[in-house]
Amino acid sequence: MDTDFAFRDILDQARISAQAGRSADVSERVFLVTGAAQGFGYGIAQAFAAMGAKVALADMNKKGVKDAASIFAKQFQTDCMGIEADVSDEDSVRDMTLSAVKHFGGLDVLVSCAGILKAGGLDELTKEDFERVNAVNYTGFFLCAKYASEVMKAQRIFDPARLHDIIEINSKSGLEGSKANFAYAGSKFGGIGLTQSFALELAPFGIKVNAICPGNLLDGPLWSDPERGLFKQYLDAGKVAGAKTTADVRAYYEAKVPLGRGCRVDDVVRAVKYVIEQEYETGQALPVTGGQVMLR
Ligand SMILES: NC(=O)c1ccc[n+]([C@@H]2O[C@H](COP(=O)([O-])OP(=O)(O)OC[C@H]3O[C@@H](n4cnc5c(N)ncnc54)[C@H](O)[C@@H]3O)[C@@H](O)[C@H]2O)c1
Repeated sequence: MDTDFAFRDILDQARISAQAGRSADVSERVFLVTGAAQGFGYGIAQAFAAMGAKVALADMNKKGVKDAASIFAKQFQTDCMGIEADVSDEDSVRDMTLSAVKHFGGLDVLVSCAGILKAGGLDELTKEDFERVNAVNYTGFFLCAKYASEVMKAQRIFDPARLHDIIEINSKSGLEGSKANFAYAGSKFGGIGLTQSFALELAPFGIKVNAICPGNLLDGPLWSDPERGLFKQYLDAGKVAGAKTTADVRAYYEAKVPLGRGCRVDDVVRAVKYVIEQEYETGQALPVTGGQVMLR
C-alpha cells in the first residue's frame, strides 16, 4: 500500500478545501456514510443530502449505493456519489476514503454504519461466523476511523478552528448483552471501547468521536425481510416462546420498549444531527431506544 502517496494526496485536498473556505454549516459539509445502500445508512445519507450536504455513500452493494446517490443528487440538487467498498478490507477502505476526498475536496463527517448480525448461541455459531461479524462491525469501524481521521487531521492543519465528527452507528446491544446474539453484542461493545479511545486520541485534533446506539429498526430489512429477516430467523429458531407468526415476534419486541414502538430512521437522524451540532461532547454512547436501555 502506498501510504505516502495517499497522504500527500490528502494533504493537497485538505489545502484546497481550506482555501475554498467551506463553512461549518451542514449544507457545506462532506459526509461519508458506510452501509448506505439500505436501512439506517440509506436514511442518514438521504436526510443529510436533503439538508444540502455533499454525501459519499459507500456499501458492498454497488448498484444500491450508485442508484441511491443518483436519486438523492437529483432529488435534492446536491452532490452525491456512490462508492463500492468493503469496510472489512483495508485497501478498500483506503480507496473509498480517497475517492470521497478527491471528489469532494475534503471530509467532515464519517458515519460508520455498515454492520451485519448473525444470531445464534455458543452451540450454533462457528469461529468463521464470529470472525465475520467482528470483521465488519468492529474492525470495519477501526479501518474507517483510521483513514477518515487522517484526512480530518490534515484538514485541521490548514483550518485550525474546524471541528470534525466520527460517528459509529452502534446498537443497544453495545450497552447490554443480547441472548443468543453474542457475536453482534461483543462487536458492538468493542465499538464503544474504540469510540472512547479514539475520542481521547483525536480530541486534540478537533475530531469528536461518538457512538449512537439505536433500538430495533423493526420496519427495516434487517428485521422485516420475509426470507432472511430477524422476525423470520427468530421465529424459526424458537427464540420467542409461543410465537406462531412473524407478527407475534414483532409484538414481543415492541412490548419491550417503554415508548411502545420500534426505532425509526428519523430518530437516529436526529441523534446524528445532535452529536454534530453539539460541540462539547465526545466519547459518548447515546442510546436512541425509546427507553428500552437506560444509562446508569
Ligand atoms: N436494524 C436494527 O434494528 C439496528 C438496531 C441497532 C443498530 N443497528 C446498526 O445499524 C447499522 C445499520 O443496520 P441496518 O439495520 O440498516 O442494516 P441493513 O442490513 O439494512 O444494512 C446494512 C448495509 O451495510 C452493508 N454492508 C454489510 N457489510 C458490509 C461491508 N463489509 N462493507 C460495506 N458495506 C457493508 C449492506 O450491504 C447493507 O446495505 C448496523 O451497524 C447495525 O448494527 C441496526
